[in-house]
Amino acid sequence: VHKVAAVILAGGKGSRMGGEVNKQYLPLLDKPIIVETLLVFQNCPLIDEMVLVVPKGDIEKNKAEIVEKYGLDKVQYIVESGHERQYSVFNGLKPLLSGRKLVVIHDGVRPLLDSAILEKAVLTGLEHGAVAVGLPVKDSIKQVEVPYVIKDVPRENLWAMQTPQVFPFDMLWPALQKAMVCGFAATDDAGIVEWDGHKVMVIEGNPENIKITDSHDLKLAKYYMEQKACASE
Ligand code: C5P
Repeated sequence: VHKVAAVILAGGKGSRMGGEVNKQYLPLLDKPIIVETLLVFQNCPLIDEMVLVVPKGDIEKNKAEIVEKYGLDKVQYIVESGHERQYSVFNGLKPLLSGRKLVVIHDGVRPLLDSAILEKAVLTGLEHGAVAVGLPVKDSIKQVEVPYVIKDVPRENLWAMQTPQVFPFDMLWPALQKAMVCGFAATDDAGIVEWDGHKVMVIEGNPENIKITDSHDLKLAKYYMEQKACASE
């Protein structure tokens, strides 16, 4: 049996200015961002179980107000985040140690993930190994030392990476452990297995799968979500 587990990262500190709540708890339309994200995985038949990674001290809140309240019964574990994303992934993988075939890592603040792209990523992962979802870069890319351009970077082969990213557990776990011992850090999980010598396949995602990091992203995400809601009525 190929068990597929998702690790949903929602352990970032977010903005704590003025007692603001972490962005993953903000409502998108009628539900918190993190609930919308978890629902994409809950409703995907290829996902067997989930680990939810939350900020320190937030386990009970997430259990009651997120997982139980919205009936997200594929969430089998809720664990605390680490001080950097990489450590949060490590904490999220720990409960899965006993023989999961494939893990899907996804940012909790990307609620607009398309279910067809998630399915394609998982199926590609089952067949080929490591898979990352991304998009070819559309803008011109230049290396800058403010305020001057140093040089132009040809964009033909450049992609901007998103999540989900999919890995055989037995590839990601040892690579992550090695990276932590060696003090190697990458900005995404694909970077960790690449560093450990594995090939990562990319599949083209959807520009709507934005990472909500500021109020501008939130406005755009609300707009996309409304469009989605209208389309499914
Ligand atoms: O900070 P970044 O933009 O990389 O965050 C991407 C996702 O990783 C967010 O959903 C955030 O909650 C999560 N994260 C985490 N633990 C950290 C840092 C970020 O779970 N230490």
